[in-house]
Amino acid sequence: MLTGKARLAGVIGWPISHSLSPALHGYWIRELGVDAAYVPLPVRPEDFKTVVQSLPLMGFQGANVTLPHKEAAFQICDTRDDAAVATGAVNTLVFEGGRIHGRNTDVTGYLASLEDAGAGPLPGGRAVVLGAGGAARAIVFALLSRGVGQVVIVNRSPENAKLLAGFFGDRVSVSDWADRKKELGAADLLVNTTSVGMTGQPALDLDVSALKATAVVSDIVYRPLDTKLLTDARALGLKTVDGLGMLLHQARAGFAAWFGVDARVTPALRQHLVSILEGKS
Ligand code: ATR
Repeated sequence: MLTGKARLAGVIGWPISHSLSPALHGYWIRELGVDAAYVPLPVRPEDFKTVVQSLPLMGFQGANVTLPHKEAAFQICDTRDDAAVATGAVNTLVFEGGRIHGRNTDVTGYLASLEDAGAGPLPGGRAVVLGAGGAARAIVFALLSRGVGQVVIVNRSPENAKLLAGFFGDRVSVSDWADRKKELGAADLLVNTTSVGMTGQPALDLDVSALKATAVVSDIVYRPLDTKLLTDARALGLKTVDGLGMLLHQARAGFAAWFGVDARVTPALRQHLVSILEGKS
């Protein structure tokens, strides 16, 4: 039940209408019986700073931040956790005593999604990361922090791959997009962090048959949930990790910080969001 004492949070993005976060947090609020509300906040880039400074004045406990504001969110914070510093991006804001604390929970969210699927954390292994944008930066940092031995970044634009590798040490190298298939034979983990394969876009042009039988294939795309990359990998008997797990797990830290309750990622929650993605709910 929502009372006058309800705790408030939301998700800031532009556009925001496709965000699954209100449904996700709304599910937990209902399931756990928390006196709280979590709302979508459509905010243009030029208004981001004004809105974030106003939210605590309206009693908000904090907010999630999504595209295109994660770097602006990093700038506006008074404190930042290690993952935020390493990625230059913030997806979770916590307001406390007039200060803005920034976190990047995509990092732990990604690792938890691997573990959920029985696929982590691959100590000493070799990961091939497709893409070199913000999501790639969070995932490379996550993998290195969990002891992955080598990360190879493969990106369409080599300059972006080199820029990303430059943030990390000598455990990260770069390979040409044209050579992506050649990189697969030695990989323990293949991750797609690009938008290729999303609904309305062409599928990823990659023959995964060169992967080892023990390799894990992960895709951060979750529209559709079963990308061609994942279905191809499953057809070869490989373990796969879809993009929904990262979305679900990144949300837990914010929920706990704003509402003071630990929320869990359960099969029922996952099914609820799958139904929304499939247009059944
Ligand atoms: P995000 O911050 O969400 O990761 P982004 O910064 O726009 O998003 O990154 C998108 C990634 O997808 C980039 O690595 C991009 O490659 P470029 O650096 O060459 O732009 C990659 N990408 C997008 N469309 C692609 C395509 N058609 N083929 C290959 N890579 C593509």
